[in-house]
Amino acid sequence: MQKRHLGALEVSAIGLGCMGLSYGYGSGVSTADGVALIRAAFDRGVTLFDTAECYGPFSNEALLGEAVEPFRDQVVLATKFGFQDGDSTRPPDSRPERIRAVAEASLKRLRTDRIDLFYQHRVDPQVPIEEVAGAVKELIEAGKVKHFGLSEAGVDTIRRAHAIQPVAALQSEYSLWWREPEAQILPVLEQLGIGFVPFSPLGKGFLTGAITDRTEFADTDFRRSVPRFSEENRRANQTLIDRLDAIAAAKGATKAQIALAWLMAQKPWIVPIPGTTKKHRLEENLGAAELRLSPEDMVSISQSLGDVDVQGERYSAAAQARIDR
Ligand SMILES: NC(=O)c1ccc[n+]([C@@H]2O[C@H](COP(=O)([O-])OP(=O)(O)OC[C@H]3O[C@@H](n4cnc5c(N)ncnc54)[C@H](OP(=O)(O)O)[C@@H]3O)[C@@H](O)[C@H]2O)c1
Repeated sequence: MQKRHLGALEVSAIGLGCMGLSYGYGSGVSTADGVALIRAAFDRGVTLFDTAECYGPFSNEALLGEAVEPFRDQVVLATKFGFQDGDSTRPPDSRPERIRAVAEASLKRLRTDRIDLFYQHRVDPQVPIEEVAGAVKELIEAGKVKHFGLSEAGVDTIRRAHAIQPVAALQSEYSLWWREPEAQILPVLEQLGIGFVPFSPLGKGFLTGAITDRTEFADTDFRRSVPRFSEENRRANQTLIDRLDAIAAAKGATKAQIALAWLMAQKPWIVPIPGTTKKHRLEENLGAAELRLSPEDMVSISQSLGDVDVQGERYSAAAQARIDR
């Protein structure tokens, strides 16, 4: 697989989002199946693996640590701190003492002596970002962390953090149905030499066409609380999938591959992290690394999808309130 750079970090052009193996979209998979999926990704050339303290909580980091132990030095482990008690339903907590405690606990669960990329998961309005960056800087000086990242941070926060400790990567939602980062975020990242890791690059599964208005989500599936995934909005948003289907057919690719290749074609420093629990979908998604979209393809995708008015917010009101702008 080709490589890309996130700041000074070299990673595979597509990473693996590990969240759904344990959390978020139902109950996840067994440890054995999760380990097998992560190792299959490594065998196919994936070297960037994404997790967080709050996925589980805690079990997703432990799963990843177990899976990569035999080849730990050949991969980049990215994890995140930033919620009270590691619970993403609770308020943010980026107090320096909490960041240090999370780092120690994450190192143990990941079975490693350094976290390659340590992201603040959500900006904490109670803690100045300079203090957060300072705490991570100390962890970097101590050799426990290699690179600093932010997630869903706005441009002011990015600039202030970067002035204290250079930021290697911003991880925020970006996809064919959520293009907000194009307006302000991408130009600032380009100016500062910060890489971009789009999360939910497949629109939490919707952009693949595998989800329809008839899909039933499990009780523990977080999409139940997402307005964009209400039955009515899924029905309305099917227009986007129908148009994407035509584009994919013309390119001899799948919708998932178009969604990922489109992100990678935006900038050479963009590294999407699609998540899946299934090996055949892993293969399909990684196939996007070989798909080239020409400038003409990009224009035609923009023209075809640009006037679709996507229905529904991407987060519940409570989750939306945590987004820094
Ligand atoms: N920083 C943050 O705040 C944040 C927020 C959300 C996510 N993330 C990170 O980003 C990663 C990816 O995001 P995500 O998991 O939310 O969304 P995603 O990658 O856009 O979509 C994942 C969903 O798509 C399905 N899927 C994957 N490949 C498919 C394919 N080829 N065909 C059909 N369905 C497919 C998966 O189901 P199956 O398992 O059934 O294949 C899963 O339900 C996460 O794992 C996590 O590491 C970060």
